[in-house]
Amino acid sequence: MNWQDICALEDINPLGSRVIAGPHGDIALFRTADDEVFALDDRCPHKGGPLSQGLIFGKRVACPLHNWQIELDSGNAVAPDVGCAHRHPAKVENGRVLLALKDLAACA
Ligand code: FES
Repeated sequence: MNWQDICALEDINPLGSRVIAGPHGDIALFRTADDEVFALDDRCPHKGGPLSQGLIFGKRVACPLHNWQIELDSGNAVAPDVGCAHRHPAKVENGRVLLALKDLAACA
């Protein structure tokens, strides 16, 4: 994978997010309470709400528009809702957030 150094982990607030410009639109980086980082397109699969402004809990984010819940590690909407936000491989290494933009993960 072609990992790119995006920022320091500390640049993302715990239970917060940060938006970066990706090749196909904005990408939201989410930091969980466990200091894991996940990356999804900043577009809710429902009607395109900005997931980066949603509430993070566990490994989910709740869309700020109509409260769909999206699994951060898969991009899938939690039932009964159906849909998928594109996910990008992300990881934390030595306090840095790395993102693999080329390997766009397909929806399950
Ligand atoms: S746009 Fe996200 S729940 Fe409707």
